[in-house]
Amino acid sequence: MSVKILAIESSCDETSASVLADGVILSNYIANQTVHEQYGGVVPELASRAHQENIVPVVDLALHKAGVRKNELSAIAFTQSPGLIGSLLVGSCFAKSMALALNIPLIAVHHMQAHVLANFIGEHKPSFPFLCLTVSGGHTQIVRCDGPLDMKVIGETLDDAAGEAFDKSAKLLGLPYPGGPLIDKYAAEGDPNRFKFPEPQIPGLNFSFSGLKTSILYFLQEQREKDPQFTENNMADICASVQHRIVSILMNKLVKASKETGIREIGIAGGVSANSGLRKALQEYGKKHGWNTYIPKFEYCTDNAAMIAITAWYKYQAGEFAGLDAVPGARAGF
Ligand code: KG4
Ligand code: ZN
Repeated sequence: MSVKILAIESSCDETSASVLADGVILSNYIANQTVHEQYGGVVPELASRAHQENIVPVVDLALHKAGVRKNELSAIAFTQSPGLIGSLLVGSCFAKSMALALNIPLIAVHHMQAHVLANFIGEHKPSFPFLCLTVSGGHTQIVRCDGPLDMKVIGETLDDAAGEAFDKSAKLLGLPYPGGPLIDKYAAEGDPNRFKFPEPQIPGLNFSFSGLKTSILYFLQEQREKDPQFTENNMADICASVQHRIVSILMNKLVKASKETGIREIGIAGGVSANSGLRKALQEYGKKHGWNTYIPKFEYCTDNAAMIAITAWYKYQAGEFAGLDAVPGARAGF
């Protein structure tokens, strides 16, 4: 009999459910919350309420699409941390209730570990040791993986995350939240070398993005004094130049990490790995440095439950189960 796992992701503003059978994703359903757009960022209280409304239909859709009945499930997985506590509570309480009602095991998953393991969905899987650059709205990490559940953060941001750098730059340009995908869109038409933004000199494998944000702010203020329409008239070139700098900061540290560890299995993960400039750069650098490169499918880059399901599959095989007393927000094993 095959092992079937239902996984739930509710750490931020996406309610998602996925069904996996023996390591293969059968369904991955994501409900996006559009309510936050008007506020320029995720409002935690509204996110929790939207999760409450979405969770039952999303789980039903994921089971239906997979053709799996509740009583066929072998385990229920949920995102334990990190995330917004009210959002995590909805997913964790739902998962616990379902595991209790069906009398099957519960699996608690670390959201950042799951982003990394999104690279292990499908046939083209990295081998170990593997280096992953995880870039999301809340985190920027270089993770060394010696096994699917054996991970260590070897570099991380000292201030803003890469996704925040995209979103805050977009805000300075008057673009709506979340601005990352919009910068990507405008950048496609622009010249990445037209404006030069500084690259911070941070020792080791850590990152910093707050200086970039400040330099963009001063640059725009200066240019707008000369031409009030500067931003509107140069949107594509500004976006391409900002994206170019964020991508070069990320890639230069990844090259350094590969040289220091001798690892050439290299992947990216997290919401920012949906960025076309970063995807292209990974392929180019990979060719230049002789890396085997990995990028999750687009739908597995931003928050989704399929990555929770694949992590739960490894945990199921390792016998790593959680009790009903598992506390959301607390650090789950990374
Ligand atoms: O992993 P994710 O979906 O949620 C978190 O766990 O944070 O990442 C969301 C972040 C946001 O900052 C969003 O602007 C960014 O990923 N993002 C992008 C793109 N798509 C999503 N940034 C740049 N280019 C994109 N195409
Ligand atoms: Zn995420």
